[in-house]
Amino acid sequence: MSALSELYEEIALCRQCEIAKYRTKVVPGEGAEDADILFIGEAPGWHEDQQGRPFVGPAGLYLDELLASINLKREQVYIANVIKCRPTGNRDPLPSEIHNCRKWLERQIELIHPRIIVTLGRYSMAMFFPGKKSISKIHGTAQKRDNVIYYAMYHPAAALHQQSLHQAIETDMLKIPSLLAQTESVAEAKQQPQQLNMFGD
Ligand code: URA
Repeated sequence: MSALSELYEEIALCRQCEIAKYRTKVVPGEGAEDADILFIGEAPGWHEDQQGRPFVGPAGLYLDELLASINLKREQVYIANVIKCRPTGNRDPLPSEIHNCRKWLERQIELIHPRIIVTLGRYSMAMFFPGKKSISKIHGTAQKRDNVIYYAMYHPAAALHQQSLHQAIETDMLKIPSLLAQTESVAEAKQQPQQLNMFGD
């Protein structure tokens, strides 16, 4: 059994938050265990809770389309959420739930070791982009720390419901291949100083 599968078993036993009582299935995440790109959404919705899989409802279908726009299938990336249980009534995650669940996401990041972490929406962005700037300022920008690129995008569900965000999320997705190419050149060049563009800092 892979280390990630063992982690899923541990996550399935977690009952730290009240919402664990009401879940149908826990939604740890899925995808390539050695993915270069890790997408992190917010929390499971109704469809995800039923199936135990991330992004399988309308927002997930849109995410699949966005991935197809850069010639990727969901099996080639890894998709997870900030929290692993569905918040009752699809409310926003509570700070305590984000805090309790953080350890699982950290373990996933350690095991997958992605080159790019793409945050989908403001909850995921807040975990990796410290500061008070809003997503309308940060989306489409990247920061590099410890050889990992953090890249912020709007949440696909937000873009589905607000026509004005459609263009932004689609344009932001199209920048991912060149970000990935930059991480490859960094890996190849090893210690040489790099000038990365598209970085918002
Ligand atoms: N929205 C999310 O943030 N995650 C999912 O898995 C589904 C919808």
